[in-house]
This record gives sequence, C-alpha cells and structure tokens, in this order.
Amino acid sequence: MKKILITGADGQVGCSLSANAPIGFQAIAANRSVLDITDPEAVLLWVAENNISGIINAAAYTAVDRAEEESSQAFRVNADGPKNLARAAREAEIPLVHISTDFVFDGRKGSPYEPTDPVSPVSVYGESKARGEVFVSEVHPDSAIIRTSWVYSKGYPNFMSTMLRLMKEKEKLSVVADQIGTPTFAEPLALTCWNALQNELSGIFHWSDAGVASWYDFAVAIQEEGLHAGLLERPIPISPIRTIDYPTPAARPPYSVLDKTASWQAFDCPSVHWREALREVLKS
Ligand SMILES: NC(=O)c1ccc[n+]([C@@H]2O[C@H](COP(=O)([O-])OP(=O)(O)OC[C@H]3O[C@@H](n4cnc5c(N)ncnc54)[C@H](OP(=O)(O)O)[C@@H]3O)[C@@H](O)[C@H]2O)c1
Repeated sequence: MKKILITGADGQVGCSLSANAPIGFQAIAANRSVLDITDPEAVLLWVAENNISGIINAAAYTAVDRAEEESSQAFRVNADGPKNLARAAREAEIPLVHISTDFVFDGRKGSPYEPTDPVSPVSVYGESKARGEVFVSEVHPDSAIIRTSWVYSKGYPNFMSTMLRLMKEKEKLSVVADQIGTPTFAEPLALTCWNALQNELSGIFHWSDAGVASWYDFAVAIQEEGLHAGLLERPIPISPIRTIDYPTPAARPPYSVLDKTASWQAFDCPSVHWREALREVLKS
C-alpha cells in the first residue's frame, strides 16, 4: 500500500482526496495542525519519517479578498508552501501533484485558456498561486500542476452553500453576470488528481467540469436544482448585475474558462457538464 500525503486535508478538495484514494493507495490526511506546509524543515521531516510515496497538495490560502491585505501570508502558503513540498518530493524522489487556479489569468483572452498561455494575475491571491506554480516547476520539474476553477463541495462554505442559505433568508438576490468561468465539483477534481499521481504525469494541466457559466447562471441553476431537490421551498427573483456594481477588494478575471482538451486526453476521461454535476450534488 503506497502512503500518499494529502495536505490541506480539512479543505473541500483535501477532504475529497482523502475520501477517494484508489486501490493500492492510502491517503495520509494532514490538516494544518498536523503539517504546516510553510515550515520547510517540518515538511522534509514529515515526508521522510512517514515513508510517504507521493504528495497531493490541496493546502492553500484561499481567501481571495483577504489576501489583498494579508499578502505575505498568502505568499507564504501559496508560494513558499508548494516550494517546500516540491523540495521534499524531489529529495524523496516521489511524485507531487499541486493544485492551482484559473485566477493566474487576467481574463482578457476571451476564449478558453490553454495550459501554455502566459499567466497574468490580477489579484494577490492569483499572484501568490502563480509564484507557487513557478517554484514547483523549478524545484521538482516532474510535478503535475492542475489548475481548476470555481470549486464547490458538500458540507463546506462555498458559492453553492452561500446561495442556498441566502435563497432561504432573502426575498430577492443580485448576482454578478459578467464574470464567466466553470463551476467544478470537488470529487471529480480529486479523482483527476489521483489519476495524475498514479500515472506520475508531469506538466501543467487544466481541469474543471465541462461547460461555461456566469456566477448569475450558476445561482439560477442552484435555485432551480435546489427547488427540484426539495432543498428550497419557494423561488425568489435573481437579478444579473455587473462586477462594477458589486465591488470587492480583489479583482477577478472576467473570463477564466480553462481549455481541458489536453487533460481529457491525458487522463482519458472527459469532464461532466457542470449543471449535471450540480444536479447530482443537490439531489444527494
Ligand atoms: N475554492 C475554489 O473555488 C478554487 C478555485 C480554483 C482553485 N482552487 C485551488 O484548489 C485547492 C484547494 O482549494 P479548496 O477549495 O479545497 O480550499 P479550502 O477549502 O480553503 O482548503 C484549503 C485548506 O488548506 C489549509 N491550509 C491553509 N494554510 C495551510 C498551511 N500553512 N499548511 C497546511 N494547510 C493549510 C486550510 O486550513 P485552514 O482552514 O486551517 O486555514 C484549508 O483546510 C487550492 O490550491 C486552491 O487554490 C480552489
């Protein structure tokens, strides 16, 4: 049985990773109190002492708006942390799968981003994640970096859970309609990370559910599917608004759809359409 270190194991992707280890692999789930990835010596020691055969890094500083004020902490976790893991993986000669984000792009391309497109983040969070990618590629070039977008999961605070709560509490909602991307359910993303680890893939990959949506589209779908699943009792009006009318501390890319063509071939597995995935999640 190969022991695989899952960092950030209390997060939404980390939890899905821990719950979906393939046959022959044991997920060793480490949350921040067990292993702080910003501590280089602790990371080295932990990997060596626990006889680890691979690492999937789901630990990250993900508070996009707060990162504008806490940039040093964001860079410590999102850039130095992956560097520490890459060094430990290189020294132990084991594979590393590192998760990154669509927010490394500025969103001005207007068509799906390919893994080879140049990064140009517009927020501290995006910059810190882009730096993490560079460190991982430099320190352990055999690593796989999987960029994803708009992740949600059951039982965690995310856009889906926030919308469901607000739809119960409020009489109407306004949601941004001019940011376009793709919602991604955490479980298929976790399976893709395991696939990359098992096959020791290296390079940059893009992975999300299939299709395209605005946050407004996503909210409307959450309401429709939530009503259908019996999670909501009555519909409320949802209005599309512009980003400019909903200012946030961090800028977001207006368009961050990821081109998954190469990943679908590499992983031999196409994504499910985001709406289908959402329906199944809300039904369950
Ligand atoms: N969520 C999204 O929409 C989204 C979109 C694109 C890409 N991603 C990427 O997907 C990956 C997983 O994100 P997620 O949605 O699962 O995030 P999440 O739910 O916020 O989980 C991240 C986990 O990392 C932990 N962590 C923070 N600092 C740490 C440290 N120094 N050492 C060890 N663990 C630490 C957090 O613990 P604490 O709670 O104790 O801080 C948390 O449990 C990240 O790389 C993220 O950048 C996410």
